[in-house]
Amino acid sequence: MIEVADLSVAYGTGRRRVLAVDRVSLSVPTGEMGALVGPSGCGKSTILYAVDGLIPPTEGTISVADEPVHGVRRDVALILQDAGLLPWKTVRQNAELALRIQGVGEDVADILNTLGLTGFENSFPAELSEGMKRRVGIARALALHPRVLLMDEPMANLDSLTREHIQKLILDLWKSLRFTALLVTHDIEEAVFLGRHVFVLSRRPARVVEAIANPEAGTAAYRGSDTFVQRVRYLHELLGGVQ
Ligand SMILES: Nc1ncnc2c1ncn2[C@@H]1O[C@H](COP(=O)(O)OP(=O)(O)OP(=O)(O)O)[C@@H](O)[C@H]1O
Ligand SMILES: [Mg+2]
Repeated sequence: MIEVADLSVAYGTGRRRVLAVDRVSLSVPTGEMGALVGPSGCGKSTILYAVDGLIPPTEGTISVADEPVHGVRRDVALILQDAGLLPWKTVRQNAELALRIQGVGEDVADILNTLGLTGFENSFPAELSEGMKRRVGIARALALHPRVLLMDEPMANLDSLTREHIQKLILDLWKSLRFTALLVTHDIEEAVFLGRHVFVLSRRPARVVEAIANPEAGTAAYRGSDTFVQRVRYLHELLGGVQ
């Protein structure tokens, strides 16, 4: 369970103070996937960093698996916006990075294989397609066998075919590994396709405009159904009017 209660985050102090997140509350039950959707610059990444323990709340509380979050934890993994690969490290070294930081000497061959990266272990990020780079970012996070997976726009700026491929890949991984997930996206269809709980955020500072139950999410057949189309339309209208 991810539980965020009355979270506010401000950057800077005095006249430079920027309130990025304003009293956000949300929860994602264990083993389910939540989606945060909102306009550019509204505070989505900030919420995710706070849940990961990278930045402390200015106010409010966060707990994961019934434990309060105070700093980065081993059972919580974060996929950074644009995959966050180190250009001077190979695919294998990038995938091993989170394990190394945690001092775990585990082999990443299996996870690279699951993500279709076998044969590219010694390639550098510059030699990979955008979709492959994202898959390396996913491999790095999953190498930790996390209980909670936080994803910051893992499909942004991909062509639509690659985007759908990675969406399906995330769905398959979630079905087999059953981590609890929180996905940040500014893509409404993606939020409705993957998020059983969709949290619509306002412009900065991020507030939860509406929390939408979307129990049908997480099946390949959902996309294109009447309910899917209606929910996407509803979210478009909601976000169109977001202040
Ligand atoms: N380190 C920082 N110092 C000062 N302000 C910051 C800092 N990081 C983010 N901000 C501000 O906080 C706001 C929210 O940023 P955040 O990155 O969380 O938004 P976002 O919704 O993830 O944006 P995007 O859609 O572009 O990824 C932005 O207006 C940004 O300018
Ligand atoms: Mg962001």
